Amino acid sequence: MRLTSSLLILGLLTGSAARAQSRPDSTAHGVTDVGLARGTTTRAGRVPEGRRKAVFSEAWRFNAGSDAVFGAHAMVASDAPLASAAGVEILKKGGNAVDAAVAVGFALAVAYPEAGNLGGGGYMVIHMADGRSGALDYREIAPLAATRDMYLDSTGTLTKNSVVGPLASGVPGAVAGLTAALKKYGTMSLAQVMAPAIRYAEQGVVVDSAFASSVRGSRPLIAQFAGASLFLPNGAPPAVGSTITQPQLARTLRAIAARGRDAFYTGPIAEAWTSELRKAGGIITMADLAGYQPVWRAPVRSTYRGYTLLTMPPSSSGGVTITETLNILEGYRSLPPFGSTRWAHLLGSAYQRAFIDRNEKLADPAFVPVPIAQLTDKRYAAKLRATIGTTRATPTTTLGGAPREGMQTTHYSVVDRRGNAVATTTTLNNLYGSGVYLSSAGFFLNDEMDDFAAQPGKPNMFGLVQGEANAIQPGKRMLSAMSPTVVLDRRGKLLLVAGSRGGPRIITSTSQVILNVLDYRMTLADAMAAPRLHHQALPDSLTIERDGVTPAVADSLRAMGYGVASGRGIGLVNAVMRVKGGYEGMSDPRSSGQPIGY
Ligand code: DON
Repeated sequence: MRLTSSLLILGLLTGSAARAQSRPDSTAHGVTDVGLARGTTTRAGRVPEGRRKAVFSEAWRFNAGSDAVFGAHAMVASDAPLASAAGVEILKKGGNAVDAAVAVGFALAVAYPEAGNLGGGGYMVIHMADGRSGALDYREIAPLAATRDMYLDSTGTLTKNSVVGPLASGVPGAVAGLTAALKKYGTMSLAQVMAPAIRYAEQGVVVDSAFASSVRGSRPLIAQFAGASLFLPNGAPPAVGSTITQPQLARTLRAIAARGRDAFYTGPIAEAWTSELRKAGGIITMADLAGYQPVWRAPVRSTYRGYTLLTMPPSSSGGVTITETLNILEGYRSLPPFGSTRWAHLLGSAYQRAFIDRNEKLADPAFVPVPIAQLTDKRYAAKLRATIGTTRATPTTTLGGAPREGMQTTHYSVVDRRGNAVATTTTLNNLYGSGVYLSSAGFFLNDEMDDFAAQPGKPNMFGLVQGEANAIQPGKRMLSAMSPTVVLDRRGKLLLVAGSRGGPRIITSTSQVILNVLDYRMTLADAMAAPRLHHQALPDSLTIERDGVTPAVADSLRAMGYGVASGRGIGLVNAVMRVKGGYEGMSDPRSSGQPIGY
């Protein structure tokens, strides 16, 4: 591990300028400070055909009418500019969207260690232009030595061990998932798609303000474990403009590039990191690693006003909950004006009902029967819709809402020139996961065990009060909210690729971008900038982003009986949308991601 503030940076600085020049038909600008990175104007104030001008509350922090990044051929939108650049590098070399997505995944593990990972897991929804589609579940699983009450102390009180430290981690699925996706749908070798990530790890990445501030925010966590020497040299985040190299991670990546998943799950690297973890008090063994398998599933396929959604089935709750919500909303001939009291009421009520089901009924299908067909049935949605009144909020308790609902994740969306699309969400759960950094292999481990109901009926770190179905069992996947989604237009052609971070807010933020595009006919930039709301049944309150609605709307919602909370950001979405002549890409204006197209 080395940290330099040297001329090496200059190479990367000039590299980004060079990238910008080699993309004359893209509007993305290479910048080094991703905290300031934004696309530039493509529409010059014009509202494109088929889209409507959005109007937001006056005090809302983002203006309507800004622009997405346009690429005539292909687009990658991720939370890290270098990861987006890795995807575009692969696309330009002739790789397809899956090759590029796998390159982005490994690049995020280097350039975005707060959420990009080898030590976590995720979900990928793939839609190929030839009609094939798949949903890849590479969620972590509980170690074989995990027990139902492992996070309770002798008095039955929930400890912090599911969130911080060596016991918090599920068996990582990321390497198995990314390599499986490449094998089934990719066209390039692992060595080819991993080349950018390896380069970033070996040659270093420039520390920008976003990265420095993310490390600063997690300093108390990182400082407790071995990652401190790399990420907190001299006890503070690396200086903006310095370069951080990760030679140990580079070695792990090189081994995976050469030998595939086995290099991570068996052999000397696996021995080294499991033994390092065991010494720290962890329970993941070589047997856990050898037994890990990602699962190919059929995407949840649903329709909404003639559009088709392909999204993630359990072990994620994302696809079922989004489908159930949209089925409820589809029964209204049109949605109320954006930002109105009725908009908040109908969306909030639909989410509330869908989350009650999510919280009670969804879990790993290998352990618990999950009624996917029933929950995604439009007749069932009609029954739920009938319980939504016109003038009053419905308390969750009167809807039979059992206890439960459900922090760092990253989503990326990729589309190639043939129209193949990949939506991927991956996470360590919290920023920098459990905090445990395995020096022997160069990565952070997740704290995904907290997504289980460590104590059924009691809230987890997100306030999610989860039930029996999601209790801890060895080998079981913990329920997720990750919602990678592909939307096809009424002719079955790719329209939108989206997903988000944010725990349970993944579901609400992803689906609101979809509704903004489909119902409100917003441009992609406006759909992403629009204020968001969130309801997850319990706690029984409607959260609306601060200044997202006018004071009058907030007052009338309170008068209807809503507990209205004012939230900071809800979700961080990265999306790509097909537009006339190509694709628009947009990273959430709430953060520092960057789309790159060409
Ligand atoms: O799988 C899940 O639903 C959570 N582990 C996601 C966590 C998350 O999105 C954190 N990001 N802010």
